[in-house]
Parts: sequence; C-alpha cells; structure tokens
Amino acid sequence: MGKKITLTVIKADVGGCVGHSSVHPELLEKAKEMLSGSPLLIDSYVTHVGDDINLIMTHEAGRNNGEVHQLAWDVFVACTDVAKKLKLYGAGQDLLADAFSGNIKGLGPGIAEMEFEERESEPVIIFMADKTEPGAWNLPLYKMFADPFNTIGLVIDPKMHKGFDFDVRDTVENKKIIFSTPEEIYDMLVFIGAPGRFCVKRVFQRETGDIAAVSSTQRLNLMAGRYVGKDDPVCIVRCQSGFPAVGEALEPFTYPHLVAGWMRGSHNGPLMPVALKDAHPTRFDGPPRVIALGFQLSEGKLIGPQDLFDDPAFDRARELANNVADYMRRMGPFEPHRLPLDEMEYTTMPQVSKRLKERFISLRK
Ligand code: 13P
Ligand code: 13P
Ligand code: MG
Ligand code: MG
Repeated sequence: MGKKITLTVIKADVGGCVGHSSVHPELLEKAKEMLSGSPLLIDSYVTHVGDDINLIMTHEAGRNNGEVHQLAWDVFVACTDVAKKLKLYGAGQDLLADAFSGNIKGLGPGIAEMEFEERESEPVIIFMADKTEPGAWNLPLYKMFADPFNTIGLVIDPKMHKGFDFDVRDTVENKKIIFSTPEEIYDMLVFIGAPGRFCVKRVFQRETGDIAAVSSTQRLNLMAGRYVGKDDPVCIVRCQSGFPAVGEALEPFTYPHLVAGWMRGSHNGPLMPVALKDAHPTRFDGPPRVIALGFQLSEGKLIGPQDLFDDPAFDRARELANNVADYMRRMGPFEPHRLPLDEMEYTTMPQVSKRLKERFISLRK
C-alpha cells in the first residue's frame, strides 16, 4: 500500500462584491497567504465562483481532520474580517457558528473530501457552482457514472463495465442509502430526480471499491433554520483509467439543466458552464453558474489548473442557457420559475401566510 493523499475542498460565501456577484481580490489574497503558509498542507489552490471562495487543499491527514478543517475555518474568519472592513455584501454570510468546534460540518461552509492512493497518473476535476444547491450535481453525476449514452467507458472500459455505487443522502431526514448501478437505476432515479431533498454524496467504482466522486451536501438553510443564501456546492471527480475520461465528466454540462438557487435562492434557472473569467453571475443574480478546474496530482501537488469550460465547444450550452434564461424570466414570480411553496419556507412566505391567516375564510363543501 502506497501512502494516501486527501483532497479536500471547502467553500464558503463570506461576503460578495458587488452584491452576490463576485469575491473581492483582497479576500482571495488573504486566503492564499494563509493556506500557502500552512505546514499542514502539501499544496493548495484558492479560487472563486460568483461570491463563493473555494479552498482546494491536499494533505496526508485524512478526511474529517480537525486541524485541516480548523485551518479552513480560520481562513474564512480572516476573510470575513476583510469583508467587514470593506463593507462587502453579506460579510460572514455562511459562517453559522461563532467559533470552530472540532469539525467544520454543520458550521456553514460546504465540504467535499476524498482520500485515495494516488495512481500512476491522477487527473481530477473540481466542479464548483454558484446560485444553486447540492442536488444540482445529481443529473450530471448520473450521466457521468450511469449513462452509457454520455460515458462510453461504461461500455468499453473493462474497469468501468461493472458499474458504480451511488451513496445518496436524504438531506431532510439525514439518512443515506447505497444504490448499485446499472441494476438499480430505476429505483435510484425515484429519489435523485428530486434534487431539493436527495443528493448524490459519493460514487464508488464497483470493480475496486475506489472512490470516484464526492460532493458537498451541506444544507445551510436546514442547518440555520432560516434563509441564509443557497448552499452553492462543489464536487470532485477522479478521471481516466477506470473512471470517466475528462471529456466524459464534462459532457453532461453541454446540457444546461434547470437547477434551484437563482435570485434570492428562490428561482429555477439553467446551470451555465463558464470559464473562470465569466464566473461572476450578474443577470438577475445569475443565471446559476458552474466552473470546472482540472488538476493532475503529483505526490499531492496540484499540477494545473486547466480551466476546462474555457472551450468554444461549450458556447452552444451557454447560448442555450441564455435562451432558457430569457424564457424562464418571463414567468416573473410564477412557478416553476419561482420555486414551489414548500421550498420557500425560509423566505418571507411564512410571515405573509401568518399575517393573512385570519383573512382566509374556510369554505364548506
Ligand atoms: P461522511 O459522514 O460519509 O464521512 O461524510 C463526510 C462529509 O460530509 C464530508 O464531505
Ligand atoms: P448566494 O447564495 O450566492 O449568496 O446568492 C444569494 C442571493 O440572494 C442571490 O440573489
Ligand atoms: Mg452571497
Ligand atoms: Mg454564492
């Protein structure tokens, strides 16, 4: 057994510039400085999508390591101080706790991490999204790991042919279930087709049991019990030899599927794949955006990144996303552009309902 590397991605929105559209460079500088000076890490890379700061870190401390989580927490606290100084919008938005307590789960930031023995060559993609929620990965992960029309490797790569196991989380009842694909895809789709509640947390290759993908499934509003912005999620996917090829992992994003989280976290809109230079959603605070950074790991060093959606081959997906955005926007405050009532419970909806309660007159049959 070789030594194991842990790839940890932790993200938070600790203040937007301007509004919820982007991150001020001073915050990114602060984060870079703190991570690059840490003896805990082998390597790190700091980026952002929209108003969310993403900390990409490699180390040998394993998953759920208190010191690594504390480091990320400290970075977000320090960035919050900068955000407060600059009076950025929603400074400290995602930090739900006053102090760190052992593990960053449940404190607000989103986290995805995986531990594995680095292969001969280890290409990974970090997908990061803004103005959406963890279930946004359900459709693309399904396509990458269970749909042969997307991933020809499922048919012709002997290491993929047995299929993949999906660890699916019920974020409301806090339960998990493992589905084996391809046998159980119909059962699984009953659940992951409802991405507001069920999220694909991990995917494992069945041939070896190796971890293939992991996403952040933290639900900020459920933790906070009030509206605090959407849980803009991240997802790590290992690629090639036994896993989807880089191009197979990217292919699902040629279709800008509808996701929840646009404007005030309360609207559905198309997920637009963009290059880093376009990772600042402005139109109606959106439309929702996803970036993909590719790295080759080398003894834990992050070689790269390659800005994978910076490719004209995704122009048509962006154009379709813009057309869908025009179409959806014309519905204004009507569903299904606006989220259904049960997903609006952390907005003004309960207050309005309460105020009007007496004015609703019961009608007899
Ligand atoms: P587990 O509880 O399955 O270890 O999940 C850890 C986690 O949420 C890190 O993203
Ligand atoms: P974020 O969840 O990205 O902070 O956006 C919140 C919002 O209200 C956008 O309109
Ligand atoms: Mg924000
Ligand atoms: Mg955001």
